[in-house]
This record gives sequence, structure tokens and C-alpha cells, in this order.
Amino acid sequence: MGKLVVAIDGPAGAGKSTIAKLVAEKLGYVYIDTGAMYRAVTLKFLNSGEAFSEELVTSIANKIAITFKPEPGCNHVYMDGKEVTEDIRSSKVTGEVSEVSAVPGVRTAMVDLQRKIGSADSAVLDGRDIGTVVFPDADVKVFLTASVEERAKRRYLELKEKGKEVKLEDIIHDIAARDKYDSERKVAPLRCADNAHYIDTSDMSIPQVVANILELCKG
Ligand code: DC
Repeated sequence: MGKLVVAIDGPAGAGKSTIAKLVAEKLGYVYIDTGAMYRAVTLKFLNSGEAFSEELVTSIANKIAITFKPEPGCNHVYMDGKEVTEDIRSSKVTGEVSEVSAVPGVRTAMVDLQRKIGSADSAVLDGRDIGTVVFPDADVKVFLTASVEERAKRRYLELKEKGKEVKLEDIIHDIAARDKYDSERKVAPLRCADNAHYIDTSDMSIPQVVANILELCKG
């Protein structure tokens, strides 16, 4: 069989990375967390201490080295050889990543990289524009979503578990704002590809969603 691409898109907090990683593990495919790539560019920009400009973030995106080392339970992310798995999830990065990822030059650089890694081996990619822009001919396309309340609740429990003090209302607000920004931006806005399988996970367990996608992969 030739190389296959599974594209999983959807809004913030829909469980894409958890699901995509499990699907990739089951299939023995490479897993590419494209959100982590935009987060790494954002972290590098924040570390630079410079003021935001499209030129600066584009030049960072063109030079950055991003690699993944997946292990059961954790997908380690490296930026220029340094592990940034935790750092790219900080609220500072989360607060800036939508703006950075809306810059056309940043997207071009990341999409090139995603295509390069994704065409080398069979791969599962998750993001916002995988089925619409990065791999419009993906073998399986999924649009994973859930209500804003459910997505916020999941993230709240996840952060609580890590011992972080957070308010559910703040998370609902953040997720709704990010949805709006990601869906309304000019370049590659978040939308369900015409031929994607739409899965609302609000009332589904993780194993159910994974089983559902594996079934689609059987074709
Ligand atoms: O999935 P995530 O929360 O880690 O994504 C972080 C941000 O990156 C998100 O706000 C939108 C952006 N993103 C994107 O524009 N395109 C992608 N393919 C993946 C993420």
C-alpha cells in the first residue's frame, strides 16, 4: 500500500491532538501536531523580546527547526534542538499564537514543512487547515468538534489535574475568542472541508472517537 495521509481538523480543545496521536499509534503512522509548530514559532518570537512584526515572525518561521519525538502518553516537541513540550503550552504562547499563525509568511513556511514531513511516511496530521490547504487530497479527512462548553470543561479538568488554578468562565471566553479569530482570519481560516467526516465529540469518549476514525481509515 502507498503512503496514506489522515487529516484531522477542528477548533481549539476538541481533543484533536489526543485523538490524532492515538490514531497514529494504532496505525503505526507518523503524528504531526501542526498546532505545536505554530506554538514553537510563537515561543521563539516571545523569547526574542522583540516587538511583533510580520517580517520578524516570518523570518523566525523560515529558520526554525521543529522536530517531534512521540512516546506513549507524550509527544515531545523540540525547537532548535531544545525540548519545548511544556513551554509551548504556556498561557503566554496560547495568548499570542492566533496572531502569529495568521501571518501569511508563517503559514507558507509551516505548510511547506508539514508537506515535507507528511509525504515522507504515512502520517496523521492535526490542525485547522490540513484537509483544506495542506493536504486537500488526504485519504481520510475528519472535522472534530464539540460544544464550546464541553471543550472548555475538558481543558479546565486537564489544567486542574496539572495543579493549575483556572476559572472555567475564563477558559470558555478564551476558547470562544480563539474560535472566532481562527475562523475569521483571511489566510486558511478554520472550516470543515467539503468531503470531511464531521464528528461532534461532545457526548463521545476518546476510545469511541478513535474507533470511529480507525473505521474510516479502513476505507
Ligand atoms: O491546536 P492548538 O491549540 O495547539 O493550535 C494553536 C494555534 O495554532 C491555534 O490557535 C490556531 C493555529 N493553528 C493554525 O492556524 N493552523 C494549524 N494547522 C494548526 C494550528
